[in-house]
Amino acid sequence: MAQLFTPICLRGTEIKNRIFVAPMCQYSAENGLANHWHLVHLGGLAVGGAGLVMVEATAVSPEGRITPKCLGLWSPQHAEALKPVVDFIRSQGATPAIQIGHAGRKASCDVPWRDSHFLSADQGGWQTVAPSAIPVTPQHAVPIALDKDGIKEISAQFHAAAERALAIGFEVLELHCAHGYLLHEFLSPLSNQRTDEYGGSLENRCRLVLEIARDLRALWPADKPMLVRISATDWVEGGWDIEQSIQLSRWLKDLGIDLIDCSSGGLVLDAKIPAGPGYQTVFAERIRKEAGIASGAVGIITSALQAEHILATGQADVILLARVLLSDPHWPMRAAKELHVDLPWPDQYVRAKHL
Ligand SMILES: Cc1cc2nc3c(=O)[nH]c(=O)nc-3n(C[C@H](O)[C@H](O)[C@H](O)COP(=O)(O)O)c2cc1C
Repeated sequence: MAQLFTPICLRGTEIKNRIFVAPMCQYSAENGLANHWHLVHLGGLAVGGAGLVMVEATAVSPEGRITPKCLGLWSPQHAEALKPVVDFIRSQGATPAIQIGHAGRKASCDVPWRDSHFLSADQGGWQTVAPSAIPVTPQHAVPIALDKDGIKEISAQFHAAAERALAIGFEVLELHCAHGYLLHEFLSPLSNQRTDEYGGSLENRCRLVLEIARDLRALWPADKPMLVRISATDWVEGGWDIEQSIQLSRWLKDLGIDLIDCSSGGLVLDAKIPAGPGYQTVFAERIRKEAGIASGAVGIITSALQAEHILATGQADVILLARVLLSDPHWPMRAAKELHVDLPWPDQYVRAKHL
């Protein structure tokens, strides 16, 4: 049996295979509310056979959105709008998951198809916040450095968003600590130059991530898994790196986090990233082996054999796919054929299975 189609059990939750839909912003929400696009897009990916379908980076507050079109979970109406998505994913036998996050100094930008440029207040943007008053690029506004009350408020927003996610039936929660957004900004010495207990040493830079992870783990039920996505390196000398990621992963494991989703980059926009097939898999492998925690590999994994090889050689426990699923939402069905696995197809599609 191909590893890719072997179920994985994280805590009390069995996920039917090891193909996870990576979180992918759709920039299609109005006022943070999910709509038909999210249902059709994520529902289609559940129909396609992925074991876990993760909802995009969902902001814990309006200011935590990357763009004005990002999803949010800061009110009961936001939860209500997402509920049909959760229900449909589950109805297809897939596990519903959500990534919650705060965009920090990378918030208040336009959507990618309008070049992601920073939006000023008169263009519909808002004041950004960060660990330190250092802009991402000179084209972005200078963020306000969060004070202790600001940090407390954001921690409470993460708590409230996780409670709402749980109430509408999500099984898996992922905390977004990657890609140069707020929690990654606290981790990296390049964006965190605080002199209080949230800055300086590795312990201090990890403090907020660990505080929030501990708090969410306590509210997320003991039989449901919680994941953390990190950028394993900033790809910049003197920045966050794999050694620090391994230590953070050990601490997260001690708190009861179940799997580290291993991405990279995003903090420094002009970092030189050697992107190529499976270029981040080495991080998943090192974290799995050196921190002793389950890991997810992501990044230019496009073929069934490549995914199977990563799992069969013990480099990761699950495979997260993003762009390849946008071009082929039924990738898992095709991968199963290639790996000679008889994957059940939705009844409605069975007549196409042996074409
Ligand atoms: C359209 C799009 C939206 C994305 N949105 C998110 C997101 O919401 N959260 C996140 O952690 N990563 C996000 N990513 C990154 C992906 O999850 C993934 O890590 C990256 O695309 C590399 O995987 P791939 O080579 O399979 O595309 C996004 C990527 C794409 C293409």
